[in-house]
Amino acid sequence: MIADLTVLGIETSCDETAAAVVRLRGDEVEVLSSVIASQIAEHAPYGGVVPEIAARAHVEVVDTIIGRAMADAGLGFNALSGVAATAGPGLVGGVMVGLSAGKAIALARGLPLIAVNHLEGHALSARLADPAPYPFLLLLVSGGHCQLLSVEAVGKYRRLGTTIDDAAGEAFDKIASTLGLPYPGGPALERLAAGGDPTKFTLPRALLGRDGCDFSFSGLKTAAARLAAGLITEDDRRDLAAAVQGAIARQLVERSEKAMVRHLHAHEGQGRLFVVAGGVAANQAIRDRLQAAAAAHGFAFAAPPLKYCTDNGAMIALSGAERLAAGLTDDIDVVARPRWPLDEASARENPIHVPGRKGAKA
Ligand code: KG4
Ligand code: ZN
Repeated sequence: MIADLTVLGIETSCDETAAAVVRLRGDEVEVLSSVIASQIAEHAPYGGVVPEIAARAHVEVVDTIIGRAMADAGLGFNALSGVAATAGPGLVGGVMVGLSAGKAIALARGLPLIAVNHLEGHALSARLADPAPYPFLLLLVSGGHCQLLSVEAVGKYRRLGTTIDDAAGEAFDKIASTLGLPYPGGPALERLAAGGDPTKFTLPRALLGRDGCDFSFSGLKTAAARLAAGLITEDDRRDLAAAVQGAIARQLVERSEKAMVRHLHAHEGQGRLFVVAGGVAANQAIRDRLQAAAAAHGFAFAAPPLKYCTDNGAMIALSGAERLAAGLTDDIDVVARPRWPLDEASARENPIHVPGRKGAKA
């Protein structure tokens, strides 16, 4: 008989304080609760996330959010098999808040602690709702990251490409702000783009002709900012938003198609599943184009439900449960890491982000 693993997951690496309880039974996943407190209102006046405000806001609510996740699941701490918390990468003040809360519960209840990489949470998030068997190809597109990875198993990743400057979500946010849209810009830009003509403005295509699966969005950002400054009518704004969304989608599709070929080559034709996860995967136009590209290359397509695209505790709890099932737990003195690449070997060999004192970013 397969034992149930019931894991509490805690997420505090950016601007959401989140906790969830997930039960794993073999390959079957059940989300028993998922509670998210967003700090958007606190950061909105500054047009972006302010680390000190984030850390303080996490401290204020983390206990309540964990309590609500346990109550919604109808469980006491003694029903848990382990406690998982994001240990990086992210804003380290916030990461420390959730990780400390996880450590306290693990210590007090004598439970195993699982320190989860936030990117691994996103990587496995499609498995919260779909079977998504390993190995699969993953496009991880969020506010902080834009990467293509072969996901072999929990804890086993090979990076095929990453951004050399901004992440896709960051590009959405920054361009949205030049269009006068509120933070976070991605969803607002998607709404504005809905009625627009994507062909009226021409935007540059990045890294054209360059071999590989890396991304770049800084040229697009500069060009869009210049165009935004000269816009007059509401129709112009809609058209520019549609052009920007189309340009981001096109780049994501082009690099993903290259990665599909490489992924299949490395897996001798196996692993024909393409998963897109992270906040930008909430964009319906982008989802549709990626799904079409997957179909054209003979890949099945999976994306988490919208509520698990952006940051949440359920993806951290699931990573924790899969790690626990594989016997991968952590010592209570594990530290929070602002930088923590999923594929440490690739990040070292090909440090797209010049390594700082603490090593490659992601
Ligand atoms: O995964 P996430 O919640 O946080 C990070 O780990 O970064 O992603 C947040 C990012 C933001 O940049 C936000 O603008 C973007 O995801 N995003 C979107 C949409 N919804 C969220 N971008 C484009 N279209 C959307 N509908
Ligand atoms: Zn995230």
